[in-house]
Amino acid sequence: MQVIRVHSAIRDYEVHFSGSFDFLTAFEDIPNRFYVIDSNVWELYRDSLFSRLDPELVMVLPIEEDRKNLYTVMEVYDALMSRSAKRNMTLISIGGGIVQDITGFAASTLYRGINWIFVPTTLLAQADSCIGSKTSLNYKSYKNLVGTFFPPNRIFLSPGFTRTLKNEDYFSGLGEVVKLHLMGGEQLARELMLNLPALAGRENAAALLSAIEKSLAVKLGYMQDDEFDTGKRNLLNFGHCFGHAVESTSAFAIPHGQAVVIGMMFANIVAKNRGLMSVALFEQLHQQALKPALTAQPDKGQLDTDAVFAAMKMDKKRTGDGLVLIMLINGFEMIKIDDLTYAELDAANHELQKLIGVA
Ligand SMILES: NC(=O)c1ccc[n+]([C@@H]2O[C@H](COP(=O)([O-])OP(=O)(O)OC[C@H]3O[C@@H](n4cnc5c(N)ncnc54)[C@H](O)[C@@H]3O)[C@@H](O)[C@H]2O)c1
Repeated sequence: MQVIRVHSAIRDYEVHFSGSFDFLTAFEDIPNRFYVIDSNVWELYRDSLFSRLDPELVMVLPIEEDRKNLYTVMEVYDALMSRSAKRNMTLISIGGGIVQDITGFAASTLYRGINWIFVPTTLLAQADSCIGSKTSLNYKSYKNLVGTFFPPNRIFLSPGFTRTLKNEDYFSGLGEVVKLHLMGGEQLARELMLNLPALAGRENAAALLSAIEKSLAVKLGYMQDDEFDTGKRNLLNFGHCFGHAVESTSAFAIPHGQAVVIGMMFANIVAKNRGLMSVALFEQLHQQALKPALTAQPDKGQLDTDAVFAAMKMDKKRTGDGLVLIMLINGFEMIKIDDLTYAELDAANHELQKLIGVA
């Protein structure tokens, strides 16, 4: 089993890669354990991987973005307390980014922190969110407004779980994989453009494993020395400034990673229009990295400039009058600007709509 060690100011932790699901059996030796499992994952694997689990030790959690809130965390507290949760218990959560955020928040706040093992089962959680220490909850209509920094003690990652993902969830994760490879420099970006057809085909396990490992390595590089997201780590929001806005205008109908692909297309248009990205690089990235990764089709209403502008104004990273945007520029360098205007947004948005054929 390959292991990545992550240094954290909170506690160091490890990601264990596995070609099988044997680690689930090893969990049976952990005293005072309790499982919280994504309901869809539970249904898919209850009679196989989970057949040995004691139902008394399992909470099955229905998953919806609008359940990623304090009320659902309270359901988890209740389940844990009803099994007389103690400070030395271990919460084992199995699922995607939503399960991670809900259970991570619960684990970080119950007794001010209990043991937590996370088993990511979506591509997005495996290639991106499982490391980074963030737990985030939505509050009313505000996405990821409430949260803590709290890494799992250990992460067990088996890419085999992604085989059962629906295409829309797989391609959501692929969006973040594309983002991290583009942010990893020219060589990694070119590697991605070569491997994207295999990744999109969903049949090449070796290509997928390598893409997950490389994505995590790039994310680690950006987190180094900035775990608490006050500087360089901010750049990981490439595709997210416009992307979060589209998630919000679509009421989360556009999956997160797909909104990030649309956000990267938008950022590249602004970079090109500002003369910071050559037309040749723009075209190449669009044709070989972004277009093949986009399966969602936003409608005109979801891309309405006024609605997107209003959502971008709510961006947590915004401190001045202009809008914030993270951009990839010539030389595969990443920069952050904070002076994007309404007029520039509107022009780039029209160009984006033409590019992706929004009627
Ligand atoms: N904490 C962080 O650092 C961080 C980073 C990025 C994103 N996020 C959050 O993660 C969430 C998105 O996560 P996600 O994309 O993993 O989505 P998700 O958790 O909603 O899962 C997507 C869908 O896939 C299903 N599913 C999960 N595993 C499966 C499997 N193996 N087979 C079949 N179906 C499976 C789920 O039930 C769900 O229906 C968002 O809320 C986002 O804000 C958090």
